[in-house]
Amino acid sequence: MAVIQLADQKIELKDGDRIRDACEQLGAPFGCRSGFCGACKIEIIEGGENLNILNQEELNMGDRDRTHRLACQAVIKQGFVKIKEGF
Ligand code: FES
Repeated sequence: MAVIQLADQKIELKDGDRIRDACEQLGAPFGCRSGFCGACKIEIIEGGENLNILNQEELNMGDRDRTHRLACQAVIKQGFVKIKEGF
Protein backbone atom coordinates (compact mmCIF):
# COMPACT_ATOMS: atom_id res chain seq x y z
CA MET A 1 0.00 0.00 0.00
CA ALA A 2 1.08 3.55 -0.75
CA VAL A 3 -0.19 6.92 0.49
CA ILE A 4 -0.10 10.37 -1.10
CA GLN A 5 -0.79 13.53 0.89
CA LEU A 6 -1.61 17.10 -0.17
CA ALA A 7 -2.06 19.56 2.72
CA ASP A 8 -4.01 17.61 5.35
CA GLN A 9 -5.71 15.17 2.92
CA LYS A 10 -4.38 11.67 2.26
CA ILE A 11 -5.33 9.04 -0.30
CA GLU A 12 -4.28 5.40 -0.33
CA LEU A 13 -3.06 3.86 -3.59
CA LYS A 14 -1.77 0.48 -4.68
CA ASP A 15 1.98 0.11 -5.01
CA GLY A 16 2.91 0.93 -8.60
CA ASP A 17 -0.09 3.19 -9.30
CA ARG A 18 0.20 6.46 -11.20
CA ILE A 19 -0.45 9.30 -8.74
CA ARG A 20 -2.56 11.22 -11.30
CA ASP A 21 -6.04 10.17 -10.14
CA ALA A 22 -5.18 10.62 -6.46
CA CYS A 23 -3.73 14.08 -7.13
CA GLU A 24 -6.83 15.05 -9.06
CA GLN A 25 -9.03 13.92 -6.15
CA LEU A 26 -6.85 16.02 -3.85
CA GLY A 27 -7.50 19.08 -6.03
CA ALA A 28 -4.38 19.37 -8.18
CA PRO A 29 -5.06 20.96 -11.61
CA PHE A 30 -4.70 18.91 -14.78
CA GLY A 31 -4.65 19.64 -18.48
CA CYS A 32 -3.40 17.29 -21.18
CA ARG A 33 -2.74 14.29 -18.87
CA SER A 34 0.03 13.32 -21.28
CA GLY A 35 3.09 15.18 -20.01
CA PHE A 36 2.99 18.09 -22.47
CA CYS A 37 1.19 21.09 -20.94
CA GLY A 38 2.79 21.37 -17.48
CA ALA A 39 -0.52 22.13 -15.74
CA CYS A 40 0.02 19.33 -13.20
CA LYS A 41 3.41 20.44 -11.87
CA ILE A 42 3.83 19.46 -8.23
CA GLU A 43 6.55 19.81 -5.64
CA ILE A 44 7.53 16.76 -3.62
CA ILE A 45 7.84 17.73 0.04
CA GLU A 46 8.60 14.27 1.40
CA GLY A 47 9.12 10.76 0.04
CA GLY A 48 10.47 11.56 -3.41
CA GLU A 49 12.50 8.36 -3.26
CA ASN A 50 9.20 6.48 -3.30
CA LEU A 51 8.38 7.70 -6.81
CA ASN A 52 9.67 6.31 -10.09
CA ILE A 53 12.57 8.03 -11.81
CA LEU A 54 11.64 10.86 -14.17
CA ASN A 55 10.25 9.57 -17.45
CA GLN A 56 10.91 11.03 -20.88
CA GLU A 57 7.93 13.43 -20.75
CA GLU A 58 9.22 14.92 -17.50
CA LEU A 59 12.76 15.18 -18.83
CA ASN A 60 11.40 16.91 -21.94
CA MET A 61 9.73 19.54 -19.70
CA GLY A 62 13.22 20.71 -18.76
CA ASP A 63 12.51 22.09 -15.28
CA ARG A 64 11.59 18.80 -13.63
CA ASP A 65 13.81 16.98 -11.15
CA ARG A 66 13.42 14.56 -8.23
CA THR A 67 11.44 17.13 -6.21
CA HIS A 68 9.56 18.81 -9.07
CA ARG A 69 7.40 16.33 -10.91
CA LEU A 70 4.45 16.06 -13.26
CA ALA A 71 1.53 14.51 -11.39
CA CYS A 72 0.22 12.96 -14.60
CA GLN A 73 3.47 11.05 -15.14
CA ALA A 74 4.78 10.06 -11.71
CA VAL A 75 4.24 6.55 -10.33
CA ILE A 76 4.38 5.71 -6.63
CA LYS A 77 6.49 2.62 -6.01
CA GLN A 78 5.43 2.22 -2.37
CA GLY A 79 5.32 4.11 0.91
CA PHE A 80 4.43 7.73 1.64
CA VAL A 81 4.72 10.81 -0.58
CA LYS A 82 3.74 14.34 0.46
CA ILE A 83 3.18 16.88 -2.32
CA LYS A 84 2.42 20.56 -2.86
CA GLU A 85 0.77 22.02 -5.96
CA GLY A 86 3.03 23.92 -8.33
CA PHE A 87 6.39 25.29 -7.15
S1 FES B 1 -1.60 17.38 -17.24
FE1 FES B 1 -0.41 18.20 -18.84
S2 FES B 1 1.62 17.74 -18.24
FE2 FES B 1 0.42 16.74 -16.75
